[in-house]
Amino acid sequence: MAKGKNSVFFCQNCGYESSKWMGQCPACKEWNSFVEETVSKSTNGKIKKIEYTEPSKISEIETNEEERIKTGMQELDRVLGGGIVQGSLVLVGGDPGIGKSTLLLQVCQTLTTQEKKVLYISGEESLKQIKMRALRIGQFTNDLLILCETNLDLASEAIKKLKPQVVVIDSIQTMYNEAISAAPGSVSQVRESTSLLMQLAKGNGISIFIVGHVTKEGVVAGPRVLEHMVDTVLYFEGDRHASYRILRGVKNRFGSTNEIGVFEMAEKGLIEVTNPSEYMLEGRPENASGSVVACSMEGTRPILMEIQALVCQTNFGLPRRTAVGTDFNRVNLLMAVLEKRFGLQLSSCDAYVNIAGGIKINEPAIDLAIVMAIVSSYQDKVIPEKTIVFGEVGLSGEVRSVSMAEQRVLEAKKLGFTRCIIPKVSSQNLKEIKGIEIIGVGNLRDAIHAI
Ligand code: TYD
Ligand code: MG
Repeated sequence: MAKGKNSVFFCQNCGYESSKWMGQCPACKEWNSFVEETVSKSTNGKIKKIEYTEPSKISEIETNEEERIKTGMQELDRVLGGGIVQGSLVLVGGDPGIGKSTLLLQVCQTLTTQEKKVLYISGEESLKQIKMRALRIGQFTNDLLILCETNLDLASEAIKKLKPQVVVIDSIQTMYNEAISAAPGSVSQVRESTSLLMQLAKGNGISIFIVGHVTKEGVVAGPRVLEHMVDTVLYFEGDRHASYRILRGVKNRFGSTNEIGVFEMAEKGLIEVTNPSEYMLEGRPENASGSVVACSMEGTRPILMEIQALVCQTNFGLPRRTAVGTDFNRVNLLMAVLEKRFGLQLSSCDAYVNIAGGIKINEPAIDLAIVMAIVSSYQDKVIPEKTIVFGEVGLSGEVRSVSMAEQRVLEAKKLGFTRCIIPKVSSQNLKEIKGIEIIGVGNLRDAIHAI
């Protein structure tokens, strides 16, 4: 090997670096994810002169309210923390085909209608393909410039020359940097490209969106290897077979990370879903046992969803349990609590728990609803349709309080529910809300009697 060049092995999943090949990554436990890459050290034999900068006193640092560009898509603005911050680097990750390019092209569309200059750099699609997608989405103004380029040096030249306010790089895994000998999509290329974009963004005050594919096979480096470098990380997720998509903030240096944005993929691009509760409850069965509506908080927004359970006699010695959309172990735990504290003979029953709509919820506030759905299915008794249930369940069968009870109740009222079963502690702190009956319960027995 040539002098000054080093060969290193990188885990393509998490970016773990090792001097030897390994079968399993010690950091992320992924199998077969190590790929050899050559890393060249380009110090040119010279050592840069180091300049000393004086540290500043915190009171003397000047701040000005970060300038944010509103994208005009409320769902996206909320996840970003109120708009695009000038000079920020935003990573949009997601499975291939989920709609990342569509989302960002739509962002370009709304930005250019506000007369912002936007440059869309694609390394994946030809100009014609992008135009075809644009035709599906709608009208575009000439403030949107499109460039098909995979060489990052040429792309950054274009950015420096055109000075757009917003740049989209689709995708980081197709970009390559000539100074690095590794193949496009490898960990060292992706990292190097991102740090170059970071300098461009911070140096020129340009906001840059980077698209990153998530891959299971580890053929290209996943977005996780650059999460720590960027300002904001958003994941675009959803079932490819269902039409709704969720944009989730994972890291945000300029806002909260609990927010989600809900979209629906339609014929003409993505449509914002401003009332996800209504959307989640669509097509609910009537008078069916084992179905109950729960309320979970996603950031500052309450979302109602239907929880379904199916409990039936097992035909084999070992009962089957599955949980879709929530934590499997949590469901097992709740069933054990039901068995011990309420005397339900669940050990001879198969149980399937599902959150309808394909959304994933891990908030403990849906515990009580899961329990109710299981009891309802076991006893084959229908829970009244206009009832919502929320609360955390403890191991001794007590129902514990949850945060933001008032918002949850108000959301239920807005959607026409007439009865809420909530933890006693939360109900005592609640202000009076007209038009909805509130039942505070202290333990599982009370809750089951209330229904
Ligand atoms: P795309 O944005 O290309 O995904 P990604 O960039 O994340 O790989 O999304 C492609 C999918 O979206 C494709 O299966 C077709 C679908 N789609 C629509 O349903 N309607 C539309 O208007 C557009 C543009 C795409
Ligand atoms: Mg794409």
